[in-house]
Amino acid sequence: MALLDVSHVTMKFGELVACDKVSFAVEEGAIVGLIGPNGAGKTTLFNCISGLYKPSSGRILFNGEDITGLKPFEIARKGAVRTFQIVRPLKDMTVFDNVLVGAFLKSRENHIAFEKAKECIRLCKLEHFQKKLAGELSIGGKKRLEMARALATEPKLLMLDEVMAGLTTTEIKASIEVIQRLRDNGMTIMIVEHVMEGIMPIADKIVVLDGGVKIAEDVPEAIANNERVIEAYLGAKYSQRYRHRRGDKSNG
Ligand SMILES: Nc1ncnc2c1ncn2[C@@H]1O[C@H](COP(=O)(O)OP(=O)(O)O)[C@@H](O)[C@H]1O
Ligand SMILES: [Mg+2]
Repeated sequence: MALLDVSHVTMKFGELVACDKVSFAVEEGAIVGLIGPNGAGKTTLFNCISGLYKPSSGRILFNGEDITGLKPFEIARKGAVRTFQIVRPLKDMTVFDNVLVGAFLKSRENHIAFEKAKECIRLCKLEHFQKKLAGELSIGGKKRLEMARALATEPKLLMLDEVMAGLTTTEIKASIEVIQRLRDNGMTIMIVEHVMEGIMPIADKIVVLDGGVKIAEDVPEAIANNERVIEAYLGAKYSQRYRHRRGDKSNG
């Protein structure tokens, strides 16, 4: 049984069909990437899964349970937790306290919450910044703080919305390492991402949306060479570069 099973999910805003009968599954322990041009419906789909929007039709199963139309806090409590494309940490609190807030959602006991926060700070490479105010972090740091806060609630499924957008190459590398660590710890992860260098090397599977419709679902190598995806989103240049890079890697 898949951890998340999205089945024929449609989300309409008046006349606009933002997601059109989208179906896919996320297996436990997998990293699944969700890509596509701006306005493809990626964030809307996240909003449907996390309960911010109630789908117009379709069904979402989490851990075998129908969560369609439940409230965000109910879905989060069941273990499907997301970050937001626009980061919004509590700016006047320290990095550590921000993560502690997440930990207290799960545990009322001080020492347990403190240990959890420490662990998440370490996993997300924020040790050096934990006493800083969240507002002082770089954008990369803020995005890792978002991850740490979500992580502190001990989710089964972590949904990351563009956590690598606007980051430096070094910060992207750090984010990739963090995501791989999380997977190694048994976390299931769904990532919306435009930074192909960030998502292609680590995803087990990529789902591609275009105009609300799923146009492809496959392993990254196949997606990079999928004509329809190249035309709708990646462009031939990326595909060539990607193939080239994979070649380089296997040579040395
Ligand atoms: N709350 C909303 N009300 C009306 N239209 C929306 C709303 N949210 C998203 N949309 C529209 O739905 C489409 C998909 O948007 P979105 O899911 O944000 O795309 P993506 O995240 O892939 O860039 C866009 O045309 C967007 O304008
Ligand atoms: Mg979006």
